[in-house]
Parts: sequence; structure tokens; C-alpha cells
Amino acid sequence: MTDRYAVIGNPIAHSKSPAIHAAFAAQTAQDLSYEALLAPLDGFAAAVAAFRTGGGRGMNITVPFKEEAWRLADRLTERARLAGAVNTFVFGDDVLGDNTDGAGLVGDLETLGCRLPGARVLLLGAGGAARGVILPLLDAGVARLFIANRTADKARALQAQFASHDVRGALGAGGWADAADAPYDVVVNATSASLSDEAPPLPAGLYAPGSLAYDMVYGRGLTAYLKQARDQGAARLADGLGMLVEQAAEAFTRWRGVRPDTAAVRATLRAALPPLA
Ligand code: ATR
Repeated sequence: MTDRYAVIGNPIAHSKSPAIHAAFAAQTAQDLSYEALLAPLDGFAAAVAAFRTGGGRGMNITVPFKEEAWRLADRLTERARLAGAVNTFVFGDDVLGDNTDGAGLVGDLETLGCRLPGARVLLLGAGGAARGVILPLLDAGVARLFIANRTADKARALQAQFASHDVRGALGAGGWADAADAPYDVVVNATSASLSDEAPPLPAGLYAPGSLAYDMVYGRGLTAYLKQARDQGAARLADGLGMLVEQAAEAFTRWRGVRPDTAAVRATLRAALPPLA
């Protein structure tokens, strides 16, 4: 029997996940279906239960349900627990909640040729998107991970929350101006500023030679943040399309025990988007 999977969100019509997982399934010869489910804003738990009762094996969870999914899961992986959000359910005897977003970012940075062990990383933002990538970046062995946010106290709260995982003393936190203490090899924009075409007012001198500026959003061409990064001396620019594909690959691997190759899917999606330059 064909195994059923789905992505659930609201809205969901434009999700690229069904196409990504269909491509992974074809490539790895896995017999599965993957659909998009629209849940009412007050009907997430009921929609999950119905899908599971109907034979569903797993789900991806997207906006605005990731925090509710975190509360709904019977068990959480450590990275999901710390992220405070779940983007992947594995249905077995119970509901396991995982979060593959951070691994998706790390996987994409590696694909882009970043050497994360020893790297100096600046993370912009202290909301859900930022929180989800902190543990995977620390685990990748970065030497420095400075969290900068408009509301500096939120960044400092995240630093405190992850202190027990900060075995190399990599973490720092503060406002935009506090980020100026070092050049960085990688700067990741995890604020939602790009959605309103704004850029965080960053001080000059943040970008080390050869550095990468990464915006987690995708499909918006050169965002206000990426333009600013280019003007401030970032050597390379990237958007979050690769992170989307890599987080999907991580979920697929968790469900099926086989890791898909992401290059072809990346290239297909990239061809349909506005250019970054
Ligand atoms: P998400 O789940 O996308 O991270 P969120 O939890 O609402 O969404 O967090 C949004 C993040 O973007 C926060 O870090 C927010 O800064 P504050 O904590 O100071 O609110 C940041 N953000 C939103 N709009 C911004 C803007 N115009 N300029 C800079 N930062 C912005």
C-alpha cells in the first residue's frame, strides 16, 4: 500500500513541499503520496488526527501551526524541543515531533561551500526562525555565534536559553550595534524584515573577506537585506531556497531511511525564481 504524507498549513496552496517530496520519491523509488492539507486556524489538531487515522505516516507542518505542533507532539527530538517549534511529525505508536529547519540551513550552507567548524556566524533576529537554527549551528562547530536583534533583550534571552549547549563559548547576543565587535564569515538574516522589504540597520564592517550573506526568505529576488549586504562588502549572496529543499530532504530521510539527492530539485526550483543579482 502507498504510504501517505502531507504538509499542513494555512494558507497552503503555494507550498512547494508536494513537488519537492514527489521528486525525492521518484528519485529514490519510494512508494508514497504527499499532499497539501489546508487546516482551519482552529482545526489543526483535528486535521492531524484525521490524517493519522486515515493511515498517514508523517507530516510537515508550516505557518502558522509549528508552535501548536510542538505542543501536540507526544515526544520531541532535542532539536525540536529547543527550537520551540515542530515542522515534522513521524507517526508510529505515538506522535514524534522533530524540527529539520536548522539542519536544512546547515546543509545548505555546506552545499554553498561554507566551512562551519571554526566559522564566525552572525544571526540576525530572535524570533522562531532564529531560535530553530541555533542548536544545529552550535553542533556544526562554529567558533562564534552572535545573535543580534532589534529587541536586544530577546537575543540575550536566547543566549541564556542555549547556554548549556554552548560548549565552545561561541554565543554572544545584543542589539545591531553590538554585532560590530568582529568580522563574520557567514551572516544569516532570520528576521521577518525582508517580508516588508526592510533591512536591519546594521553597522559597517561586519563582512570578512569571502563572507556569505544569507537571507532565509526566498522567491523575492535580491531582498533589501541582500542589497545592503552586497553594498557593505559581502562576497557572496544566497536566499533560503536551498534551506527549504534541505529541510525537506532531512524530513524525507527521517521517514524513509534513504537520503535523496537535492541538487536536481534545487536547480528546478531555482529556474522558476527571480535572479539574485
Ligand atoms: P519568525 O517566526 O519569522 O522568526 P517572529 O517570531 O515574529 O517570526 O520574529 C520576527 C523577528 O524579526 C524578530 O526577531 C523581530 O524583531 P523583534 O524581536 O525586535 O520584534 C524581527 N523583525 C521583524 N520586523 C523587523 C524589521 N522591520 N526590522 C528588523 N527586525 C525585524
